[in-house]
Amino acid sequence: MNHSVTVSAPGKLLLFGDHAVVYGYPSVVTAVGKRLQVTIARADVSKPMIDAPQVKDTRFVEAALRAFGKKNAISMPRIKLATFSPFSGRYGFGSSSAVTVATIKALSIYFEKPITTRELFDMSYQVVVEIQGVGSGFDVAAASYGGTLYYKKGGVVLENIGGEAVKRMPLVVGYTGIKSNTVEIVNRVAINLKNEPGKGKRIMGSIGQLVEQTIEPLQTGDWARVGKLMDFNQEYLRDLGVSSEKLENLISAAKRAGAYGAKLSGAGGGDCMIAVVPAYKMQAVKDSITKASGEVLDVQTNAEGVKVEK
Ligand code: PMV
Repeated sequence: MNHSVTVSAPGKLLLFGDHAVVYGYPSVVTAVGKRLQVTIARADVSKPMIDAPQVKDTRFVEAALRAFGKKNAISMPRIKLATFSPFSGRYGFGSSSAVTVATIKALSIYFEKPITTRELFDMSYQVVVEIQGVGSGFDVAAASYGGTLYYKKGGVVLENIGGEAVKRMPLVVGYTGIKSNTVEIVNRVAINLKNEPGKGKRIMGSIGQLVEQTIEPLQTGDWARVGKLMDFNQEYLRDLGVSSEKLENLISAAKRAGAYGAKLSGAGGGDCMIAVVPAYKMQAVKDSITKASGEVLDVQTNAEGVKVEK
């Protein structure tokens, strides 16, 4: 048994396929360099001690401990688990899935119970679904595997996009300042879909087709094309009713200043928008987002998946 172990897992940004991914259509997600750390160490306590100030909801950690303990038939009273994150849960970078993945990986090292990345993904996805009820698991995939992934719900398809170009995607991220409630929005979309199944199916199907078209330009670095596809994706999201005035303001600001294209990322309602931008327009786009009252976030894309820090 190790005395102490620290593991980190990356956050995520959904590049394409938001919402449609919940209904089995493909998506593209990139892992971001905002990492959440979990440290597990021995402690003289009678039940696991959890110190997770950055995680808004410790139920994910508790469920991860339960799932790992059950799978490996071990009870683990004498540990303390602490999280550290340089980014706040409010940005919507996926701190719940990152903490789940990092916790299970840290437990596997601490108790010397090796786990494959696929097993880590599967166990973490089950934990997230248990606690959250809804979700495609794209965030769990990003935290587990890292990189930029072509992903379908539950990990039935999970492939790295590959290529050198995608590592240098010229992405600008603008935060609206508004925390969106993913579960509520996903449930609202489900109700709309029941009320207007024809429209809903049409939109989801169109998003799915569009996602297929993003792979090649992402691999070759055709950013003008990637931007255009973001614009189309955003139109569908708007039709779904998940955009917001603030998101639209930031998206327009980015495009006015010369972005190739822009869209919301994630559930909508708030959180972040993303834009693909020509190199020489980078600063102008950032300034324009700031002027429109957005917060420009410095985000590295295509980040490494879960890893042991020490
Ligand atoms: O709100 P976020 O960033 O966790 O993204 C939600 C994305 C959805 O497609 C709406 C839901 C999901 O689980 O895929």
